[in-house]
Amino acid sequence: MNDKNVIKQKFVELYGAEPEMFASPGRINLIGEHTDYNGGFVFPGAVDKGITAAIRLNGTDKVRAYAMDLGESTEFGLNEEDKPSQMWACYVFGVCREIQKRGGKIGGFDTVFSGDVPLGAGMSSSAALESTFAFALNEFYNLGFEKFELARIGQSTEHNYCGVNCGIMDQFASVCGKAGHLMRLDCRSMEFEYFPFDPAKHGYRLVLVNSCVKHELVGSPYNDRRASCERVAKVLGQEFLRGASMEQLEAIKDQISEEDYMRARYVIGEEQRVLDVCAALEQGDLETVGARMYETHWGMSKDYEVSCEELDFLAEVAKECGVSGSRIMGGGFGGCTINLVKEELYDNFIKTATEKFAAKYGHEPKVYPVIISDGARRI
Ligand code: GLA
Repeated sequence: MNDKNVIKQKFVELYGAEPEMFASPGRINLIGEHTDYNGGFVFPGAVDKGITAAIRLNGTDKVRAYAMDLGESTEFGLNEEDKPSQMWACYVFGVCREIQKRGGKIGGFDTVFSGDVPLGAGMSSSAALESTFAFALNEFYNLGFEKFELARIGQSTEHNYCGVNCGIMDQFASVCGKAGHLMRLDCRSMEFEYFPFDPAKHGYRLVLVNSCVKHELVGSPYNDRRASCERVAKVLGQEFLRGASMEQLEAIKDQISEEDYMRARYVIGEEQRVLDVCAALEQGDLETVGARMYETHWGMSKDYEVSCEELDFLAEVAKECGVSGSRIMGGGFGGCTINLVKEELYDNFIKTATEKFAAKYGHEPKVYPVIISDGARRI
């Protein structure tokens, strides 16, 4: 990422004034994938990669924005009909609109932003962007929105301006993250707990391996997965799939499609895995955590069908290398695996995975050691 001073400098060059600086992170998720919109549990943490923005109110009713990594700029108004054409700008515009829909009075601003969350890697670059602007505007205008509402503003932006019917996990993690902690969020009651998380204490490391297969949730089968779950919940007479048992699912099997059955089977299994992982973590039993991660991977691959060949290959190589846990992370359709590796196996795993992947797919995967960091903030 362009560092803070470079972003600031660019701002001064473009707009001739000193900005204020804000940042929000991307996220990892230890376990609990595609459970958020089912009212279930997720277990994310914010990372040390994110979006940094220089922002200054400009006294007009227009936003002037420069996306440094793309070298693109745009200008848009704050009314519904002013939606910009660039996707990246829709995230910023959507946040402004969602704030206004909630009664927040805001005006125009100038901004330059840059990020180091790899795009399309399943690490929530878009949530980082939304959280940065939701957080900053809340501060600038003293809007008084609670952190959860800032996350909701980001989520509604995805729903209403970006075409992704996502859950709350990414925006929640980006806003509420805390260094050294994962968060277990109950997406039905919206209660959450911080869990101190330090795998090094137990002799493990957490590392992401990016297949560099770009995932794209916009207009993707992501929304179809969600629709499947909602259909099954309806047949079960429940608001969410959360809380349904395998027995209940079996009992309605002939009333739903084979595909919807598979999707629900994955989600119900995943609910249990999150709870198992929390219990195992409390015991310092990271081998059980890892075993559940593999189960999630193959559930996402075979039942939920959101993996791809490259990610399955990475999970298989991890297994061969003795890695304790490995799985596709985030929405799926590409991006990263998250790997829980014993310290002594780490170097060999990274070397083997890199070489084998390159030999098969013609390019090396990217490797990011995970550092759990703070959420949205002024810097
Ligand atoms: C994406 C969505 C989240 C969540 C994950 C899958 O990241 O934005 O809400 O559903 O996929 O766990």
